[in-house]
Amino acid sequence: MDKLVVTGPTPLKGEVVISGAKNAAVAILPAALLIDGICTIENVPNISDVKISCEILEKLGAKIDWIAPNTITIDSRNITTTKAPLDLTSKFRASYYIIGAMLSRKGSIEVGMPGGCKLGARPIDQHIKGFEALGATVTVEKGKIVANAEKLVGNNIYMDIVSVGATINIMLSAVLAEGTTIIDNAAKEPHIVDVANFLNTMGADIRGAGTDVIKVNGVKRLKGDATYSVVPDQIEAGTFMLAAVASKGDLLIKNCITKHLESITAKIVEVGAHVEDYGDSIRVWCDKRPKSAKIKTLPYPGFPTDLQPQMGVVLSIANGTSMINENIWESRFQYTEELNKMGAKISAQGKTAIFEGVEKLSGSPVYSTDLRAGAALIIAGIVAEGTTEIYNLEHIDRGYENIEEKFRNIGANIKRVTE
Ligand code: UD1
Repeated sequence: MDKLVVTGPTPLKGEVVISGAKNAAVAILPAALLIDGICTIENVPNISDVKISCEILEKLGAKIDWIAPNTITIDSRNITTTKAPLDLTSKFRASYYIIGAMLSRKGSIEVGMPGGCKLGARPIDQHIKGFEALGATVTVEKGKIVANAEKLVGNNIYMDIVSVGATINIMLSAVLAEGTTIIDNAAKEPHIVDVANFLNTMGADIRGAGTDVIKVNGVKRLKGDATYSVVPDQIEAGTFMLAAVASKGDLLIKNCITKHLESITAKIVEVGAHVEDYGDSIRVWCDKRPKSAKIKTLPYPGFPTDLQPQMGVVLSIANGTSMINENIWESRFQYTEELNKMGAKISAQGKTAIFEGVEKLSGSPVYSTDLRAGAALIIAGIVAEGTTEIYNLEHIDRGYENIEEKFRNIGANIKRVTE
């Protein structure tokens, strides 16, 4: 079993380069199943969720080559089965994108129930509603999802809830459908725009991604023969921004799209940090104890739920009492118990957590309860006095590329130890 050993406190200083977005990559890879040809994808983060996605695609008959450390080619000309391996698909959340892509390409698919971080109930009713509106039959039983369609025909779909996954999945299923699909009340996250741009580069006709109405005009075939580069990871960039604030450091965060970071920038300025925005990089520094704040997580362009735990570390050491209102996931405060082991004073109940800021945290053994909680605990370890040991690293490895190397390069005393 691996653990991360972090000794602090250390103000983080220097430059860090952001990788391609996990949540875009894990959608773009299945989207490549729609292509009757070969495509090249650059800026692919080398993380375990991506490796599992590659394995699933290969089991379905696609051929994948890593031609450079972050570049792959995918040849989807010969899809040989419509049964995705149940064990692999149930390992992570984004395996549900296989359904939309394979329904569109082959009219049939069987996958395991998607797994992923335990953040509370994670229903997929809006995905299913979309597939059914296009003419598919979907059954969920005995831990698997089976979807079939003789033919998919475009339709108007109003999403009852703003869902990133359902928006992308319906977009995927509509790409090769007959006629036009309109997705109303769509999610607007940067990776939705990225998946649409990828598909359009390969020959699809998708308009309006990034607004709450997306129009997909079905096309007969995606031909591929093109290269696409995955958008920089907004959540990884935000993680380092918040690490700079919490550690009273000074970081230049490169290869990001600062437009995607506006809600985070606004909050870190509010707590007293400084920001210089260069468009594709951002400098964040903080020279005093952060001030308290109120945070509400919301769909994009609101403050992202995936940065809520990292913001929680900043607020745990802020001057005064802060509040976080979590509006997306019902169980996203599990990390607060771990921070309390390090001396934080947080009480969480239902959707709300109250942070009574303490002057310092102290090192302790802690357990990463999910992916972003893991990132938050690394930041807490860097800020805390003494040594923090972080367990359950499989969560962190799912979504952050070379995380300890990136933190070490900006001054953190962090190492991975195999016990
Ligand atoms: C994606 C991200 C995840 C992020 C989340 C919200 C990926 C792989 N994961 O997850 O990191 O935390 O967006 O930004 O991109 N819901 C329903 N029915 C559905 C679908 C969702 O009720 O059919 C609810 C969920 O329970 C949740 C809310 O809608 O309360 C948002 O979920 P959604 O945007 O779908 O999250 P994911 O796509 O699973």
